[in-house]
Amino acid sequence: MNLIFLGAPGAGKGTQAEIVCEKLGIPAISTGNMLREAVKNQTAAGLAAKEYMDRGDLVPDDVVVGILKDRIAMDDAKKGFILDGFPRTVPQAETLDAMGVQIDKVIEIYVPDEKICARLSGRRVCEGCGNSYHVDFKPTKVEGVCDACGAAVVQRIDDKPETVLSRLETYKEKTAPLKDFYAAKGKLVTVEGQEEISETAKLTMAAIEG
Ligand code: AP5
Repeated sequence: MNLIFLGAPGAGKGTQAEIVCEKLGIPAISTGNMLREAVKNQTAAGLAAKEYMDRGDLVPDDVVVGILKDRIAMDDAKKGFILDGFPRTVPQAETLDAMGVQIDKVIEIYVPDEKICARLSGRRVCEGCGNSYHVDFKPTKVEGVCDACGAAVVQRIDDKPETVLSRLETYKEKTAPLKDFYAAKGKLVTVEGQEEISETAKLTMAAIEG
């Protein structure tokens, strides 16, 4: 099954992708995580992406598409995958179509803007393995230390309030039109993001299986 998770920054795409990929036994492919890894390793793609990411803009399509093509060609993606954060523009969606990738469902996780800011200001991510936490809703067992690998958990540079507002604007202008794009193909299902991560997970699984 090939799925796309769509939604504003901080809606919970990565959190749900982590849960659903375990249930379905398919990889979650996050272009945001891959780009952050490329920035950390100072690859050509990372160097090209960094300034856009730091200010909350989209990275140019050719950079992201290059990374994505390599990833979905890997063996573990042959039986299906969840795309988290891709496509993010109509041209990116058209590129997926042109690559012959069949998408079964597009799950939009909808959360109102006012809740997004609280979620992102409290998010912490592991510097080592990239696991994501929240100081209130999904805290680490030991403060500041990743449960999975023991590395430090920190705030993302683009989770500062002024950058979050800019990411929300970018989402509305460039990514939200994808809802109409996939609704016209009969693939869009919207899930209301709940206060509890496990509640959203139940709705997300029901949307996938329904
Ligand atoms: P990316 O990493 O994809 O960022 P994003 O889409 O802005 O999404 P986030 O990771 O911020 O949020 P999320 O929806 O995954 O929420 P999460 O589960 O973490 O992209 C970063 C940047 O990379 C972009 O700005 C762009 O520059 C570039 N980029 C990436 N892909 C690109 C593309 N295709 N084209 C061009 N550029 C691209 O949850 C957020 C927080 O809330 C967490 O702390 C979590 O614990 C908590 N939480 C989650 N669910 C709940 C809940 N139900 N209740 C309470 N708390 C919850």
